[in-house]
This record gives sequence, structure tokens and C-alpha cells, in this order.
Amino acid sequence: MAKKLWGGRFDKETDPSVEKFTRSIQFDHKLAWFDALGSMFHAGILARSGYLTWAEAGSLTDELMKIAEEVQKGVFKEDPNCEDIHTNIQNRLESTLGDVALKLHMARSRNDQVVFATKLYCKSTITNLQVNINKLVSSIEKLLVENEDIIMPGFTHMQHAQPVYLKDYLGTYQKMLLRDVERLKYISNNIKITMGAGALAGTPISSEEYSKIANCIFDAAQNEEKWTALNDFIKENKVESTTNSLDAVSDRDFVIEIISALSIIAMHLSRLSEDLIIWSTQEFDFVEIDEAFCTGSSLMPQKKNPDVLELVRGYAGRLNGNLVSVLTMMKGLPLTYNRDMQLDKEPLFNSFEIVSLELEVLAGLIETLKFNKLKIKEYLKDESLYATDLVYHLVKNGVPFKQAHTTIGELIKYSISSGQKIKDMSAEKLKEFSECLNKEGIVKLFDAKESVESKFSIKRK
Ligand code: ARG
Repeated sequence: MAKKLWGGRFDKETDPSVEKFTRSIQFDHKLAWFDALGSMFHAGILARSGYLTWAEAGSLTDELMKIAEEVQKGVFKEDPNCEDIHTNIQNRLESTLGDVALKLHMARSRNDQVVFATKLYCKSTITNLQVNINKLVSSIEKLLVENEDIIMPGFTHMQHAQPVYLKDYLGTYQKMLLRDVERLKYISNNIKITMGAGALAGTPISSEEYSKIANCIFDAAQNEEKWTALNDFIKENKVESTTNSLDAVSDRDFVIEIISALSIIAMHLSRLSEDLIIWSTQEFDFVEIDEAFCTGSSLMPQKKNPDVLELVRGYAGRLNGNLVSVLTMMKGLPLTYNRDMQLDKEPLFNSFEIVSLELEVLAGLIETLKFNKLKIKEYLKDESLYATDLVYHLVKNGVPFKQAHTTIGELIKYSISSGQKIKDMSAEKLKEFSECLNKEGIVKLFDAKESVESKFSIKRK
């Protein structure tokens, strides 16, 4: 049984089932680096406020730095029997430094420690995720440049609608992803990293001390060189004094906002996957997914299945579930911290992890897609794709829009029932539908390039 951060008022040992049930180290170990950093700040603050000597703060920050380095190298020895990662790090300090480590928990609680570490984790993971989103945007860019001249049928309700450029279709996914980057940036910028909440009521240390916090960590450090690497991180994630300690320990809005933004990304990636799944069917045959990104069947030897895309589509459900689980967990909680809130971490970590795996695998898959130009061109022979252009033609010749719409509707109906292509109809036949339907005028409208180039609502680079 690992040492706890509490226990003085207890006579009995904790039941092993309780230890097992309440533990969070199996997932919050991800916060180790951020927790160590928070403790360095805290040691500096305690030194400024006279609760530690600078020498004591120095030995604590140096040991914490060692822990942070071990975490980064993946060699930090976690103790799976600890209640959580905060306990684990505290126990390590006590075992290496002895009594001085016992002073570190003055004026703090895991309630604020956990928020501090989770916020930092979120900010740093968002920064990494933005890089991955931009990589996928670049993969799409490569694909659309390679296939710049392809025009395809555009769909609404999954029915042939009007011709569109493939580059604009794919560009839509770029737009979505760039919006995602902006959304994440906005959320991240709004996350205030605060200290000084204590368990809920604040601490006896004045907020001015906390506002000088960034300097403290340097003042306390014995080995200055080591701290230069942390410098940028500290500057970027300005730490402030809390302005409402109760809010600081009970707020999980930032978790909900992030999981929500991640769910939106997963929904975008799922839509992209769904398009590619449909396009790669024998029936559509628009695109070929590279074998390296497909899997086979144990029974049917001919199969080459888009399992990657199906999993991306499936995981979108998991992300939505993660969001709903945190929203539901929070909705009935009285202020301030309640242990329920420990359960925000698995959904948060899981959502981050899934989205970053998806971004990585999709970037590779997208770059190796091969479009079937001939097949796509075949589909453009469908005259219904140009029906709206015929309507516009009539309008340009003075026919009111609604009347033109009805006329072309009737023309299409006749074409379907007679099995005759509009292009092949005689000039006289066309005139039966409208005086303004002149054969030479409309024949050139059944051209995909003509159709897309006559629309001006997409800004291209
Ligand atoms: N591991 C907990 C969490 O993630 C922090 C523990 C706070 N415990 C407490 N009894 N106040 O929320």
C-alpha cells in the first residue's frame, strides 16, 4: 500500500476495494510532467512567502526537474499503488529529499493541483494537435493540386445535383479543418492557468506573490541552465493568481469545450471518411484507396476493405459519448470539488488520443488516393447535372425563374420517359417546351467545365 496524502484522522486502513476503486494513477499518470512543473512553481511561491528557504525550494525544484526529465524520457518509475500521480510525485520527493518535501504541500490541495496540471496538459496537447491538423490539411492540398482539373458530379441528398471541381469538394474539408484549428486556438487562449485556490477557499499567500510566479521558478532553481528549456513553455502559459478560488477548483468548462471541439473534428473526419467509403465502392468507383491503408477478409479472398475509414466513422460515436459523459457527470455537482470530477480525464485523454491517431492515419491515406478520372468523367454525361444551367439559360432569355424551372422539369420528364437525350432532340421538339429553348444555345451547356466556370462563389488561391 503506497503512502497517502491524508490519513491522520483515520484509525482504520482503507479497504483494498476502496483503494482499487478510487485510484486514478492508471490514467492521470499522463499529467506527471505538468504536475511536476506546477510543484516547481509552488516551491518558488513558498520560498517567496517565507514558508521555505530558497535553498529548500532549490533542492525541491531540482528534484522536480529530475522527475520531469525522467517523465520526458519515459523512465519515471510510477507506483501503480498510489492514489494518483500527485501522490506519486509527492512520495518520490519524500523518499529522495526527506523532511523538506513535507513542507511542499503548504497552501495547496490536489483540487487545485489537478486543475493546474490538466489545464497545462490541454494547452500543450492542443498545440501538438494543431500541427497534426495542419499536416492533414497539407495532404489534402497535395491531393487536390494533383487532381486539379477533375470535375465530378456534386450531390445533395446523395442525388446528382450540379458539376463541381474535385478540388473544391476536397477544399471543403480543408476549410472545416482550418476552422477546427481556430476553434482550438480560441479555447486554448481562454484557458487561464491559475494558482492559489487551495482546496476551495484560497490560501494565506497574497495574490501579488502569485502574480510574480513566473520569476519564482527561476529564483528557486540552483542549476539555471536546466531551466532555459522550460523558459518558452512558462512564458507561453502565463500563470496567474486565481480570482475566485471556488470557481478555480470546480470549473471543468475547459474540458467540456475541448472535448466538444474534438468531437467536431471527429465528426468532420467521419464525413470525409464516409465520402471516401462511398467513392471507393465498385458502384461509384471514383477513387482507389492504397492497399497499405486497407485490410482484407479472412473468408473472402477478393476483399480490400476500407476499415481505417470505417473506424474513423465509428470513433466519432465514441467521441460524442465522451462529451456526453463529462456533461452528465458535471450537471448535478454542487460546488466545489467533488470526486466525480476525477472522471473527466479518461474521456478527455481518450478524445485527444483518438483524434490524433485519426489525423495521422488519414494524412497518409489521403496522399496515396488515386482518382479514376475516366470513370468520374463518365458520370458527367448525365444530362440532369446541367438542368439548372438550362434554367439559367432560359432566365437569361427573359423567362421568369419559376416558369423556366417548370419548363426544364417537363423537358427532363419527357427525356426520361422517351429515353431521348435532350442534346439529341430536334430544334422543333425543344421549341414545344419553350420558344426560348434554341438548340445551338443549349448544346454547349452540357459541358462540365462550362458549368463550373459559370459559377463564381468559390474563392480559389
Ligand atoms: N485524483 C483526483 C482527481 O483527479 C484528485 C484527488 C482529489 N481528492 C480529494 N479527495 N480532494 O480529481
